[in-house]
Amino acid sequence: MDWYSEELFCQNLPTKPRQDIGLILVTGATGYIGGRLVPELVARGYRVRIMVRSYSPDYKERWPDAEVVAADALNVGELKKALDGVSVAYYLIHSMLLGKKEFEIADIQAVTNFRFVAEEKKVKRIIYLGALGKYHKGLSNHLKSRINVAEILSLSKIPVTILRAAIIIGSGSASYEIIEHLARNSPVFFLPSWAKTLCQPISIRDVIKYLVGVLEIDETIGKSYDIGGDDIISYEDMIRVFAKILRKRRIFIRSPINNIKVFSYIASLLTPVPEPVISCLMEGVKNEVICENIEIKKHLNFLTIHYKVALLRALSREDHDKIYTRWSDSYPPAHELALKLSELNAPPRYISSYSILSEKPKNTLFKSICKIGGKEGWFHNNWMWRLRGLIDRIILGVGTSRGRRSASSLRINDVIDFWRVEDLVPDNRLLLRAEMKLPGRAWLEFRIGEENNMNKISVNAYFQPRGISGRIYWYNFLPFHYIIFKDLLRQIVLRS
Ligand SMILES: NC(=O)c1ccc[n+]([C@@H]2O[C@H](COP(=O)([O-])OP(=O)(O)OC[C@H]3O[C@@H](n4cnc5c(N)ncnc54)[C@H](OP(=O)(O)O)[C@@H]3O)[C@@H](O)[C@H]2O)c1
Repeated sequence: MDWYSEELFCQNLPTKPRQDIGLILVTGATGYIGGRLVPELVARGYRVRIMVRSYSPDYKERWPDAEVVAADALNVGELKKALDGVSVAYYLIHSMLLGKKEFEIADIQAVTNFRFVAEEKKVKRIIYLGALGKYHKGLSNHLKSRINVAEILSLSKIPVTILRAAIIIGSGSASYEIIEHLARNSPVFFLPSWAKTLCQPISIRDVIKYLVGVLEIDETIGKSYDIGGDDIISYEDMIRVFAKILRKRRIFIRSPINNIKVFSYIASLLTPVPEPVISCLMEGVKNEVICENIEIKKHLNFLTIHYKVALLRALSREDHDKIYTRWSDSYPPAHELALKLSELNAPPRYISSYSILSEKPKNTLFKSICKIGGKEGWFHNNWMWRLRGLIDRIILGVGTSRGRRSASSLRINDVIDFWRVEDLVPDNRLLLRAEMKLPGRAWLEFRIGEENNMNKISVNAYFQPRGISGRIYWYNFLPFHYIIFKDLLRQIVLRS
């Protein structure tokens, strides 16, 4: 992605890259923050190893100058391989997408394993990005878990630098997309009492600058700092500012209801972010999150940007289709390291296939396939896809509103509405894995081959049902496959 290397955040950082830092491990590299940190470190000449849970050749293409290792922090043996020979480790692991019930346990187990293995492997330094917040009775589970992780790391013999941030604003961040879509889609706001809570948001570029900057300053070793942007602002005002930028007139009414569950459910229907993630984040809005310890400014004093400027930059990145990482890059709860089609013991028994012949060249046909979903839609019978997505959202699934990271480019693991790219072979195959709520597992495959001296485009739907409900589901949807896929193939050819 050439444009990204031209727009790196750390180009004007007051610190200089260091020669004496050995191998750097970035955990959570497939996540929102980790994915942005890696190209910055590589561009500064550091030797970087990336830890991912599920290996894909795509990572090597995305970060050709970095080493990729597959390891799950819940597996000590795998962690030993990942931490071998590492000098500095960034800890950016977060299991929030597992949902409220499970993420706390997973986060504690992951960090405990990491701490012990890092000690055994004699890692010299750990850098952790956590969240702002103080222990008290009403503290949300999400913020509590971030503080617990910081405490477990701090018990280690290895010095840990802790950076604590409130919400992060940038293209592709969940908080940004929630605020943006609320401001765009809701003409009236019923404000709960907690909408007045104060927060100190920070832009993604400033977060990355702090993460890289502390690596290059020895005085920050073993210290904890709060990092924030230039504004202390209420959640209500965050929406007002965004609505003003979008030139939308919005009506704000005080709400007698303050229940977070109700608000997070409504927000999940109006934004691309699914309910389990919104409710984790929203639980935190009752807690004021403002920087107290800003000692970092003594060592690393660059100009941070205002909330409004961060919004404008994120909007501009969206307009130019330049979103490098997105919150949806990490797996949602039910699809935690989902089984791939090629990993099934036997191919699914339920398959429906349709094809069409075309004289158009393979590359233009494939380009047209890869534009599917997101704002572009599914080329035909869009309402059927949207209806399926809406039903999914209502029952707390991911729905179709997640859209796509980029309208013009696609990479393995990208989300396309309620699908995720499982395989992508240019001019030949696009395989999507379903992430909507289903009584079974489903895949959708587009293939381009040859027949009678023409190019043959096929679409194959694979389904592995779970019990009788899965079989009923499959037979109910079969007639719709016929209507949807025939038209879809015709549209692919027409648009090529
Ligand atoms: N984003 C924000 O707005 C924000 C704000 C304040 C602080 N922070 C802090 O910044 C840090 C990173 O956040 P993020 O937004 O980048 O999170 P994210 O997008 O949810 O990414 C989490 C990463 O953790 C990985 N992971 C989860 N469980 C793992 C395991 N068992 N073993 C190995 N890797 C595992 C995920 O890998 P998979 O891809 O395999 O799932 C993913 O790469 C967190 O500590 C968070 O609290 C973030």
